Amino acid sequence: MKKVLLVFGTRPEAIKMSPLVNELKSRSGICTTVCVTGQHRQMLDQVLKVFKISPDYDLSIMKKNQDLFDVTDNILGSLKPVLEKEKPDVVLVHGDTSTTFATALACFYLKIPVGHVEAGLRTYNIYSPYPEEFNREAVSIISQFNFAPTKLAKENLVKEGKDPQKIWVTGNTAIDALKTTVNKNYMDDNLKWARGKRLIIITAHRRENIGEPMHNMFNAIKRVLDEHDDICAIYPIHMNPVVRDEAHKVFGNDDRIRIIEPLDVLDFHNYMHHSYLILTDSGGIQEEAPALGKPVLVMRDTTERPEGIKAGTLKLVGTTENKIYKEFTKLLDNQDEYNKMAHSANPYGDGLACKRIADILEFGEMKH
Ligand code: UD1
Ligand code: UDP
Repeated sequence: MKKVLLVFGTRPEAIKMSPLVNELKSRSGICTTVCVTGQHRQMLDQVLKVFKISPDYDLSIMKKNQDLFDVTDNILGSLKPVLEKEKPDVVLVHGDTSTTFATALACFYLKIPVGHVEAGLRTYNIYSPYPEEFNREAVSIISQFNFAPTKLAKENLVKEGKDPQKIWVTGNTAIDALKTTVNKNYMDDNLKWARGKRLIIITAHRRENIGEPMHNMFNAIKRVLDEHDDICAIYPIHMNPVVRDEAHKVFGNDDRIRIIEPLDVLDFHNYMHHSYLILTDSGGIQEEAPALGKPVLVMRDTTERPEGIKAGTLKLVGTTENKIYKEFTKLLDNQDEYNKMAHSANPYGDGLACKRIADILEFGEMKH
């Protein structure tokens, strides 16, 4: 029996690892253990509840306004005894957060093999996104098993010298999650409020965007809202207090935008499904929106998800006020442009990524 330990700690990792936890738990050849770092608290617990996962270990490391030292430091220290006790055959980490990096580093120190889910995404600028590009590149140095969501992600890893035999193209597990959440009859009070208008969904949280870029984004959105009577916006706001202060400063009491608490993933996926378009600096939303046929304006200077740009669903609009204003206005006012973005193909998989990863772990040789 293979012992697989999954470690994750933030909302996006939980959304993309939970379907894998449940798939692995259904396999007779695998003993599955879950450790959450608690890098996020409320936003992580929301996901665990939806997917009915009770972690075996919870390191509970989150502090208000934590910096990168706090997170990395606390995870390294508190994960060591868990790894020493469990002695897993492989530890699975996801993506590019501080939880991902610190866990891979701890495994390296103890010579425990690492499997990297969502491996091979790159911008090749370690300051954008920050610190995620560094995190994922560093994890790729350590990891023995690489589950790439797309062919392009695999090619990045091969170019960097990774052994192609240790890279599998699986699709993104986000699409697996999406298959279980969207319900065409879903309705709630916020969506009733938005009826008859074009609904815009907004999210923003990236560390490198905090400060002036985020101020620019919010100003641009406010200008467009003021100029279009037939749109309204819902912004489920990240729990980072710095992001909250900035949003409340710019949007104040504007009654055409509802700033609400983070939604659980089931609600959020259904809000996206009802939306007209999405403005975000999120990573995961860039993968989910194409599967729902929703255009996304990506308020960032770089993206590690060029497949969505190539497919036509995503457009990179930077972080200056004028550019975001111009692109947002264009997408609202130009139906042809909108239709082109809304009718592009989803490049992120068929919803069977977890099954593929579990097959490799259960039946593969896992030599390293
Ligand atoms: C982290 C990840 C980022 C990912 C994002 C997803 C790192 C360095 N960054 O960034 O890659 O895109 O999660 O959302 O790993 N907070 C709460 N409750 C929560 C979650 C956050 O109160 O449930 C507040 C805390 O004050 C915390 C702050 O948000 O200090 C920032 O959280 P943190 O995990 O450090 O960074 P994120 O910006 O969320
Ligand atoms: N999401 C959610 N509730 C919200 C906003 C987003 O469940 O209120 C989901 C979204 O569907 C996606 C993930 O959170 O799966 C993205 O997380 P986030 O933007 O925090 O991080 P990133 O993907 O940028 O790392």
